[in-house]
Amino acid sequence: MASVIRSVQELTEKAAALGISFPLRQDLSVLAERVCVGAKTAKNRLVCQAMEGCDGTARGVPNELTIRRYRRLASGGAGIIWFEATAVLPEARANPRQLYINKANLDAFKRMADDIRETAVRATGEAPLIVMQLTHSGRYSKPEGRPAPLIAYHNPLFETEITLPESCVVTDGYLEKVTEALVNGAVLAGQAGFDGADLKCCHRYLNSELLSAYFRPGKYGGSFENRTRLLRESAAGAMQVCGGDFIVTTRLNVYDGFPYPYGFGVSPSGGLAFDKSEPAQFLSTLAAAGMKLVNITMGNPYVNPHVNRPFASGPYEAPEEPLAGVYRMLEGTAALKPSAGEMKLIASAFSFLGPAAPQTAAGYIGGGGFDFAGFGRTVFAYPDFAEDILHRGGMQKEKCCICCSKCSEIMRAGGTPGCVIKDKETYLPIYNAYCGRKTV
Ligand SMILES: Cc1cc2nc3c(=O)[nH]c(=O)nc-3n(C[C@H](O)[C@H](O)[C@H](O)COP(=O)(O)O)c2cc1C
Repeated sequence: MASVIRSVQELTEKAAALGISFPLRQDLSVLAERVCVGAKTAKNRLVCQAMEGCDGTARGVPNELTIRRYRRLASGGAGIIWFEATAVLPEARANPRQLYINKANLDAFKRMADDIRETAVRATGEAPLIVMQLTHSGRYSKPEGRPAPLIAYHNPLFETEITLPESCVVTDGYLEKVTEALVNGAVLAGQAGFDGADLKCCHRYLNSELLSAYFRPGKYGGSFENRTRLLRESAAGAMQVCGGDFIVTTRLNVYDGFPYPYGFGVSPSGGLAFDKSEPAQFLSTLAAAGMKLVNITMGNPYVNPHVNRPFASGPYEAPEEPLAGVYRMLEGTAALKPSAGEMKLIASAFSFLGPAAPQTAAGYIGGGGFDFAGFGRTVFAYPDFAEDILHRGGMQKEKCCICCSKCSEIMRAGGTPGCVIKDKETYLPIYNAYCGRKTV
């Protein structure tokens, strides 16, 4: 079993053994810089990535655990809180407790945004930017707790046991309805007081699956223009109706980790290597359309989680060293930066780097590789990581996420994920109830 990185020295040695190197910087001051995102300003370059707690109410609004989580993050000092996957249609929910924004429950989201800001101002003196992630779970929809997939096209790599019925393939008319729902979701997020909306296009949920719909007929498949239509048109619609200050953004898979014709960001001539051609073209297109920020990610958390969130232990033996996965993510983001123009980029997957994450983030950001460092699982384990980086000299080894995958295990078992190791009192009983094991 691999273990997470425990120091900068260990990172340097393990990277060297793999024949790679990370641009490390001991001076972390670049991470404290303020950054303009269009008309808004992030108070620093650290981001709490979207981390779903699957703990909303049946109506789709934040519940006790949701509120607890965001209070912890708000006090934690990050410059951007990327608020978790929030469905825009009832059938789009990935679980019955996934958040779902609509006109009838808008007040609860308004209270959530106010609460995050007030908590942050009390604890740190300044509010973060808050971006709501708007989602359609597509192939992974489970609104009633049972799979109810809505897919862009059939994929034999995912449909290994049964081929899904034809009725699961969404029509062009349905995708027009999804476009409208995403635009409407952005409007609602703005009304609730969020600073921006992420038209989620990652991790092989519906919008992201379309990017590799090379052989889908109709206006959402085939050409690059068609495969990117849902995101382009919903972004254009949201920018038009939400006004200039509101941040319309996307969390974008630039590499799926599946071969052509089943993956985005790979070469049509075959192989699994990252091919930046289409992702670079897409970023240029989004920047030209006025997008100011993109949150870069890779992989599919259900099928190749080692690409998405490099782990020390997980559901299978990963075919590569986790550090190689982190390297792909960070170098891949940096390789795309020249295509982004003035648009700011967030990189993902810092958790595996443990206490060496700040020095790595400072190295890349200081060298112009990207603009923000996004922490995923860390936010469950170590919600005040940003305060420690910015005001206490760095991250403490004892507080870091150990990338044990127990949060994901709870999620897959239908429970409410959190950190079983560092937030034990709350989440060990939940882990035991859903995953049935007593040792951690
Ligand atoms: C339990 C769990 C919930 C997640 N929820 C979301 C989500 O709502 N939206 C999203 O885009 N990514 C989600 N992710 C992915 C993370 O944001 C992040 O990309 C991933 O964990 C890799 O970053 P890390 O190595 O820093 O953890 C989730 C991951 C986990 C383990």
